[in-house]
Amino acid sequence: MFKFHLPKGTPKIVQKLKSPVVIFFAVLWSILLISIPPALTQQPVVLNVLITATDAQNWQQGLVKDFEAKNPGIRINIIEGPNATNLLEDLYTGGFILGDSPYDLINMDVIWTSKFAAAGWLLDLSDRISEEELAAFSQKDVEGGKYEGKLYRIPMRSDVGMLYYRTDLLQEAGFKPPETFDEIINISQALKQKGKVDWGYVWQGRQYEGLAAMFVEVLQGFGGFWVNPDSLEVGLDDPKTLKAIAFLKETMKEGISPPGVTTYQEEETRRIFQSGQAAFLRNWPYVWSLANTEGSPVKDKIAIKPMVGTLGNSGGACLGGWGLGIAKSSKHPEAAWKAIKYFTSEETQRRFVLDAGFVPSRRSLFLDPQIVAKYPHYPELLKVVDQSVLRPPIAQYAQASDILQRYLSAALTDRMTPEKAMKAAANETRRLLGVKS
Ligand code: GLC
Repeated sequence: MFKFHLPKGTPKIVQKLKSPVVIFFAVLWSILLISIPPALTQQPVVLNVLITATDAQNWQQGLVKDFEAKNPGIRINIIEGPNATNLLEDLYTGGFILGDSPYDLINMDVIWTSKFAAAGWLLDLSDRISEEELAAFSQKDVEGGKYEGKLYRIPMRSDVGMLYYRTDLLQEAGFKPPETFDEIINISQALKQKGKVDWGYVWQGRQYEGLAAMFVEVLQGFGGFWVNPDSLEVGLDDPKTLKAIAFLKETMKEGISPPGVTTYQEEETRRIFQSGQAAFLRNWPYVWSLANTEGSPVKDKIAIKPMVGTLGNSGGACLGGWGLGIAKSSKHPEAAWKAIKYFTSEETQRRFVLDAGFVPSRRSLFLDPQIVAKYPHYPELLKVVDQSVLRPPIAQYAQASDILQRYLSAALTDRMTPEKAMKAAANETRRLLGVKS
């Protein structure tokens, strides 16, 4: 008879279990395990992705669970990163520089594509998607995912900087929505004098990427420019740039913007506006659904419009947005592509937009009945996306932005005169791009 011995000291309960019945089932279990196809016993493929902490919540609420339920062999591991896009970019860059990136899916801001692609960190996706499929997305979002004619990023959501204003206060005081920077100042002063608000206008003035995004809008409104991506001409020491800075400084000098504005990112400005303390806000469309939630002091009292300009120069909306790429070093490119297809599909985006108030990258969704019922301004928003301004799509964008952020912040906080600061910023940028001063 088949016999085996348990080691000395084996607990009594286990010794008792050494019955022929237990042995029979143990053998049966082993045979079963051996005969099950390996795919069923394999660990699921894990796709790592780094996301800002605020976005991570929106991903976890539904999107990821749904994808995993439909794809039992794949798990998405979300790693929460800092909210400032430049800090998130540093983490991705650090991962790539150290060798094989720990991330499979790369959740990319529109401004990172050129740098990541030029460094050879991303998989070329051009052959995975047809021109017809791409035509369903906003052209600017697709362009933001290309480098030297190849496609590296599929847009998951778009973004455009907008001007928010208080409809109730403007109507009550008999003002039309502003069209120019001067009107923002005048209306703000009037509302402050009447004691209706503490602040007129809040914007992102901290030294980080959001400062650059906000500034390209004001710059465009004054007819200026930062870097021409084709000629590499630099416009930072142009008198129009100084006018744009003068406007921002005036908002602080006149007490229209709080002194702390030079330390604010998007969320600080949203909170001030949402609490009812300010008449105007520059921010991205995500603010809309938060400011209109039940219990918000400004619910149903706000509207948004494209950023204002000056007489003769219409304002600019900075194109933002996020999309997905695949790390060249990922061991799971096929699973990652499956995830990208799912996360950028019409159905998933509709849900993402309805839940989180984000801007779709698929054109049809701006006119989707369910979306328009919740966000009546989305058809208009499509026009704004189409006319938006890209931050210069150059491989050295991160350094160029860092130069602008440092000197602009010095000018706004009176550490340098705007003239000196912008002369230095322009020359440093020209050196970076290898063009003559
Ligand atoms: C938003 C935009 C992104 C931009 C960032 C700046 O996340 O989508 O493109 O760089 O804000 O703070």
